[in-house]
Amino acid sequence: MTDGAAGREATVASDLRDRVRAVMEAHWREVDGHGFTVPNATVYPWQWLWDSCFHSIIWAELGDGDRAIRELESLFAHQDDDGFVPHVTHHGDPGFHADFWGRRGTSSITQPPMYGHALAELERRGIDVPTDLVDRARAGLEFLFRVRRRDDESGLITVVHPWETGADNSPRWDDFCPGGFDVTRWKQVKGDLLSTVERTPGGAPVANPAFPVAPVSFNALVAFNAWELGHLASEDDEPLWGMGRILLELSVRVDDRWDEGLATWVDGGPSAGGSGRARTSDAILATLTRGPEDREARAFAELFEPLAFGAAYGPTQVHRAEPSFDPRGYWRGATWPQVNYLHWVSALAPGREHGRRLHAEADRIAASTVAGATASGLAEYWHPDTGAGLGAVPQSWTGLALVLAAEPQQTREAPG
Ligand code: GLC
Repeated sequence: MTDGAAGREATVASDLRDRVRAVMEAHWREVDGHGFTVPNATVYPWQWLWDSCFHSIIWAELGDGDRAIRELESLFAHQDDDGFVPHVTHHGDPGFHADFWGRRGTSSITQPPMYGHALAELERRGIDVPTDLVDRARAGLEFLFRVRRRDDESGLITVVHPWETGADNSPRWDDFCPGGFDVTRWKQVKGDLLSTVERTPGGAPVANPAFPVAPVSFNALVAFNAWELGHLASEDDEPLWGMGRILLELSVRVDDRWDEGLATWVDGGPSAGGSGRARTSDAILATLTRGPEDREARAFAELFEPLAFGAAYGPTQVHRAEPSFDPRGYWRGATWPQVNYLHWVSALAPGREHGRRLHAEADRIAASTVAGATASGLAEYWHPDTGAGLGAVPQSWTGLALVLAAEPQQTREAPG
C-alpha cells in the first residue's frame, strides 16, 4: 500500500468514527434510570434485543464502557424469572402495544441471544462485566435450551415467530405464507401468528404449532453465544459449565443439517423440504458452530462467489439464484451489516479450535461492509451492488462497520 492509500484509509476510518459516534449519541436515551440506544429515532424508537447487544459492542469500540454495560443492563431489566428476555422494551411507556403483546412494558417473544457474545467482547476489551449480567445472560440461554420446544426430528430449538429470528421476511419462512410470499399478506400472517404462541404460566413463549420452525441460524447463534459466555467462567463457576453442553449439543445438531448440493445448512421442522432450504446468508452463520473445515470453506466461498452471494457491497442476504432474490427487498436480498459483522466474527473466530482463522475472508467482508455503511449513510440495510441505503437511515447497528474498520485482526486473541 502506498503512503497516500494508507492516509486515505486512515481518513475514512476517522470520518466513520465521527459519524458513528454522532449517530450513537443522537440515539442514546435515558428513561426511568435506564440507558439504551434506539435503533433509529423514528422507525424504531424503543430498545430491541439483538440490536442492543451490537450497540453495546459499538459503545465499547467508542471507548464508553459505562454505556456498553448500561445498554445490556437495560436490556435485562424486564427479564422473566424463568430466563425469558423480551425482544422489545417500551421503556417509559408500559401501555404501548400492551394489547397487541398481551403484556405491559415489553413484547412477548424473543430475538437471537447475542448477549453472550457482547459480554465476552466487552471483557476482551478490558471492561469489567458485572456478575449479575453474566447470570442473566446464562438464564436467558438456559431458557432457550431447556424450556423452548425442540423440533422432534432435528432436535433443534424452535422459534415461536418469524420476528424472533431477527429476519422476519426471509424466504426461509415462505412456506408459512398462504399462496406464496406477498408483503401485505405476510404482514397479516405475522400479526395472526402471535395468537397461537403457547406460553408458560408466567407468559414466556415456548412453542407455536402454527410456526414450528427450527432455524439453523437461530440455533447457531444460541450455540455461539453459549460458547462465548462460557469463556467468562472462572474455574469454580459451576453454573457456566452448562454453556459447554449447549454448545456441543446444538453444534452437532446444526451440523447434521448440512446439504452438500445446496452448500448450506437446512432448517429443521415442517419447512425442511421446502422454504427451509432457501439459500440465505444468515443460514451460513452455522459456521459459528465450528463444523468440519471443508464445509466451512465451501460456505464461506459462496459468500464471495458472484453468482451466489458475492457483491461489491455484499454479501447479499439471499443467494442470487433463488427465485425470491430481490436486492432491494427487506430480508429478501439486500445486505445487512449485523449479519456481515457475524460472518466477520466467524471468520476470525475467537476460540476457533484448530487455528482456522480466515483472515482473507474477514478482510473482504470488512471492506465491503465498510463501503456499504459509508455509501448508504449508515443505513439499516443496503443494495448489495450499489450500496444505496434502504430501510431506516441512519441505523445504530451499522456502527458495527467501525469495529470492522478498526480492529487489526492479527491482534484479536481467543478468549482465555
Ligand atoms: C427490524 C429487523 C430486526 C431489528 C429491528 C430493530 O425489525 O428485522 O432484526 O431488530 O428492525 O432494528
